[in-house]
Amino acid sequence: MDLLWSLLSITCLFLQLEGCTRVIKPNTVVVDVDMTLSTPSPCRNVMLQCGEHGPSVYWQKEKQKIGKGSELTIHVDDFPDAGNFTCHNDNGDILNHTLVLIQVTKNDRGEYPKQILQEISDQIYVKCETKNHSGVFECSWNLNMNRNTVQILVEAHRSNSSISCTVHDQDKSRAVCHELTYCPFQEELEKVGFNLHAIDGPRFENYSSEFFLADIVKPEKVQIHKKDEGDKKVVVSWEYPQSWDHPHSYFPLTFEVKALKNKHNCDHEVCSDPRTPNHKLPHKGSYHFFTEETSLQLNHSTKKYVFCVRAKDMYCNSPWSEWSAICSKKLRIKKQRNENRDRKKNS
Ligand SMILES: *[C@@H]1O[C@H](CO)[C@@H](O)[C@H](O)[C@H]1NC(C)=O
Ligand SMILES: *[C@@H]1O[C@H](CO)[C@@H](O)[C@H](O)[C@H]1NC(C)=O
Ligand SMILES: *[C@@H]1O[C@H](CO)[C@@H](O)[C@H](O)[C@H]1NC(C)=O
Ligand SMILES: *[C@@H]1O[C@H](CO)[C@@H](O)[C@H](O)[C@H]1NC(C)=O
Ligand SMILES: *[C@@H]1O[C@H](CO)[C@@H](O)[C@H](O)[C@H]1NC(C)=O
Ligand SMILES: *[C@@H]1O[C@H](CO)[C@@H](O)[C@H](O)[C@H]1NC(C)=O
Repeated sequence: MDLLWSLLSITCLFLQLEGCTRVIKPNTVVVDVDMTLSTPSPCRNVMLQCGEHGPSVYWQKEKQKIGKGSELTIHVDDFPDAGNFTCHNDNGDILNHTLVLIQVTKNDRGEYPKQILQEISDQIYVKCETKNHSGVFECSWNLNMNRNTVQILVEAHRSNSSISCTVHDQDKSRAVCHELTYCPFQEELEKVGFNLHAIDGPRFENYSSEFFLADIVKPEKVQIHKKDEGDKKVVVSWEYPQSWDHPHSYFPLTFEVKALKNKHNCDHEVCSDPRTPNHKLPHKGSYHFFTEETSLQLNHSTKKYVFCVRAKDMYCNSPWSEWSAICSKKLRIKKQRNENRDRKKNS
């Protein structure tokens, strides 16, 4: 008899190790379910435990009595089988509970189909960015579901360090994480792992990504200033964003500058001319070049220009900031108006 019991418990242990259930937090169990399998799988058995209570304990799900005893094994094949299971004593008091959730590992749409978050681009559901090298980063996503019913849990990790994350509790579609021990002066040897758990009713979905912080540094937009120096000269200058790291000499930015003649948005390509590859000299009246400097003197202030500037960390293979743009025309119109007014006043 004893032998039988040990054999049984070894088998059970084995089943549990191999099993498709995981405890993701106290009182919450996730069962992996392959929806394309028609035969019930033994690893979808979930044992619910109430604790040290007598045989009079009974179980309920959605106010329906479903069984007796301090342990109860349920079988989870599909969403209706999942839910919140409570155990009660004779008086009907709740003694304990287990929330059983389902993660679909496969269905007719493919493996680990997702429906709680929207796809941003091919297989990408979460976007993480930071404005600087402070060790603080922000991740965002879009919910497909009503945010009042969805629960989002977020966690980030990297060995030898501790990262804390907080989900914005109102819109539930972004989180701020902080790696306290992040050192921008040291090369990152290992990626940050970011996991998001999304729960909608009985549905559980797991989203994960990995990245180096240095690869997700996207500076904020730069501020452009313009000064008309007369004599057909305009000096355009720009500043490092407020949120960028100090000292700037240690955290240099590279700027991409365009001065586009006539009406063009900043994405307009300046066609290359083999004689002026970096376009420090105008090509058909437009400029396009990369620089570490923060000002530009243009010599055609009477022409209508759009100045565009964006920034990127000089040493990292990270994204460019959004473009900042300023028009030369407005200044001229304003100035002319003032001149006209002055003329009227004087006459
Ligand atoms: C209550 O239920 C959880 C499972 O949801 C179980 O891990 C825990 O041991 C139970 N509490 C007691 C006191 O047994
Ligand atoms: C499950 O039931 C327990 C006990 O009633 C309750 O505290 C808990 O909030 C419920 N969880 C969900 C997700 O409904
Ligand atoms: C973590 O710390 C240990 C001991 O300090 C060190 O040997 C190991 O290289 C570190 N790992 C990483 C990825 O930095
Ligand atoms: C979520 O996915 C990651 C990466 O695939 C995995 O390491 C982790 O165990 C998963 N977590 C759950 C609760 O499924
Ligand atoms: C650094 O970047 C983080 C994340 O983008 C941001 O929250 C923080 O305000 C920035 N620091 C400064 C000084 O602006
Ligand atoms: C404008 O003229 C100044 C002085 O002649 C020159 O130094 C500067 O490079 C010119 N700017 C451009 C963008 O060509």
